[in-house]
Amino acid sequence: MSKIKVCYFSPTGGTLQVAKHLAKSIAARLCAEIEYHSYTLPKEREMMPLFDAEDIIIWATPVYAGRIPNKTLDYVRNAIHADGNISVALVTFGNRAYDNALAELVGLMDDGGMRVVGAAAMVTRHVFSETLGSSRPNADDISALEDFAAKVAEKILSSSNSNFPYLKVPGEAHPEKYYTPLKSTNVPASFLKAKPSCDTERCMRCGKCQEVCPMGSITLNEGVPLFDGICIKCQACRLICPDQAIAFTDSDYHSHIAMLEQNFSSPKKAEFFVNLCHNLQKILAMKRLTISLLMCLMFALGTLDAQEMTTKSQLGWADGWKYAFSKEGMKEWKPEFTLRNTGGLFTGGPMFTGGVRVDEKRSFSLFLGQGDTWIGHVPADVYSIRTGVSFRRYWHLGERKTFALYSDLGAGVGYVYKIRGEYRESSNGIIRDVVAENVGDMMFVAYWQPGVRVRFYKNIHIFLGALLSTDSIGLHWGLGF
Ligand SMILES: Cc1cc2nc3c(=O)[nH]c(=O)nc-3n(C[C@H](O)[C@H](O)[C@H](O)COP(=O)(O)O)c2cc1C
Ligand code: SF4
Ligand code: SF4
Repeated sequence: MSKIKVCYFSPTGGTLQVAKHLAKSIAARLCAEIEYHSYTLPKEREMMPLFDAEDIIIWATPVYAGRIPNKTLDYVRNAIHADGNISVALVTFGNRAYDNALAELVGLMDDGGMRVVGAAAMVTRHVFSETLGSSRPNADDISALEDFAAKVAEKILSSSNSNFPYLKVPGEAHPEKYYTPLKSTNVPASFLKAKPSCDTERCMRCGKCQEVCPMGSITLNEGVPLFDGICIKCQACRLICPDQAIAFTDSDYHSHIAMLEQNFSSPKKAEFFVNLCHNLQKILAMKRLTISLLMCLMFALGTLDAQEMTTKSQLGWADGWKYAFSKEGMKEWKPEFTLRNTGGLFTGGPMFTGGVRVDEKRSFSLFLGQGDTWIGHVPADVYSIRTGVSFRRYWHLGERKTFALYSDLGAGVGYVYKIRGEYRESSNGIIRDVVAENVGDMMFVAYWQPGVRVRFYKNIHIFLGALLSTDSIGLHWGLGF
């Protein structure tokens, strides 16, 4: 019988609470036992977890500065040494963001020989603040976590011997930097060296704070804590103290908390990713291909009414296009531009197209667009830049062709960039640089945009239509001339 082994770092217990819930939920479905291995305390990190071939591993860690806690990285690297064990990655975060932490964890697990079948980022209380994520995980989070556990268990039952493809999650698997905390004035906060202090009048000398410090940085002097080692600001000592005798007094630290509470109070959603086995991925790829082929077919049908193809109306559709590209036909070409915006479920953003009307009814153009992209759960600060070609077919309504219905088919390739801000000090104060960082994802998109065009002045028109593309559905609107 397989065993679920939960390896976790959890100074204040939030991560352990979520990991327990996940483990119990999966175990109930697989009739498996659960075993816990904490690497929170220094003496716990003297031991490495041992995995048997049948073990299912859950690796759980909180997010610190957008990554796996720095001081645990070496241990995690050494301790993950599996032999193809099915595994689940779990990070908890305090309602700001999990940035690269989940990708980093999945990357380390994969490097260490685990087959990562699922990954989750759960919101928990932010240990810096009384309010951020204070009531998380809530009932919705738990029910989403249970759905995730059900999918993971199903996957494990149906494909224990399969080779899973690498599980793609948002963020970089090998990040170089940590998130730079900011003050409430939006300039970098520097509290790396901050340590807690103890109010000796309140302290009852119980020694609990010393027991929980994951860095072993607290010694007791006649029962009163001295914070003489490295402090990772985990808050374990402060939160365990029964007499509220421990506090951080650093002003940058408090200014950072004010900034977090100002900007990250609206609840973030938990996120879940389940690996699809190769076959399902193939089916999905087929689905995309089918949509693209259908679109091409519709485009072909659109041009089948060949007689209307050109003003010389007797030509067949192939001859029509031939005519359109002949010397004579090209004389009838007129430039056509549109400035449009798309608002889709997964992609959106401005787009510029420039091209030619080959006749009264048809035009083709090149497009260049930029957009926020959530496709494949890429985070919101990722923008795509797309180029491609689009064909438009008009059906005119109204006496003076004021109205037209149109069908716009297009395809293009895009590249995904990550745009982020970085702060640096200069003689002129704090400067914000925008850094374009290549995430390195190529994307292909094909779309169909049917809609209505209304001419309102000379040849200037507005248009509004639906967007049906291989990566989104939504609306588009804009100006054409
Ligand atoms: C040093 C430090 C850095 C943190 N950085 C982030 C962060 O970048 N994003 C975030 O949303 N939460 C952040 N948090 C909040 C923790 O991820 C969250 O409170 C976590 O659940 C604590 O886990 P634990 O209860 O298992 O100790 C940070 C907490 C600490 C102590
Ligand atoms: S001294 Fe620092 S590292 Fe140790 S428990 Fe307290 S906050 Fe955490
Ligand atoms: S936990 Fe609080 S009361 Fe107990 S020794 Fe530490 S500071 Fe003193």
